[in-house]
Amino acid sequence: MGLKLFRCRICGDPYLGSEPPSFCPFCGAPERYMQPAEEYVDRNTVPNLSAKSRENLEKALDLEVKNAAFYMCASNCAPDAFSQAMFKALSRTEAEHASLICKILKVPKPEIKPDDKACLKDPKANFAAAHEREQRAVAFYSQSAKEATEDRVIEVFSALTEVETYHIALSEAQR
Ligand SMILES: [Fe+2]
Ligand SMILES: [Fe+2]
Repeated sequence: MGLKLFRCRICGDPYLGSEPPSFCPFCGAPERYMQPAEEYVDRNTVPNLSAKSRENLEKALDLEVKNAAFYMCASNCAPDAFSQAMFKALSRTEAEHASLICKILKVPKPEIKPDDKACLKDPKANFAAAHEREQRAVAFYSQSAKEATEDRVIEVFSALTEVETYHIALSEAQR
């Protein structure tokens, strides 16, 4: 059972394994987005990005940066190892989403620092706040996918909708 190199169609990150992972370990996209690295094509340069898609991607970037910063603080102040690890994993996923959107927008990735103002210190309260954040993201991304005309933008917003829907289920189980 040897190692094979896979790449995620959504975030582009490489993964070594004998099988494709059930979810991308970087952006959380489900298995069907994993492909043999030989078949990967970078589609982040979208010609003639519409004004609407640009506007929605800019809003999405802001949202992902804020959510990553919130989760970073939630992880830092979690009193138990489980919540600490859960919020860390979520923060990394949202930071990966931010970096993907930057690749499409051709802007540098903003530095993400823990947001001490947004986070509530108590894990239960943070999971409840996370739930609301993820719900807002899902509503906005599914709307943005409908408003997009470019295949790549539709694909990215649809995948992000799916990933954040899985996050809702996670936070629902914890609050
Ligand atoms: Fe990915
Ligand atoms: Fe995200």
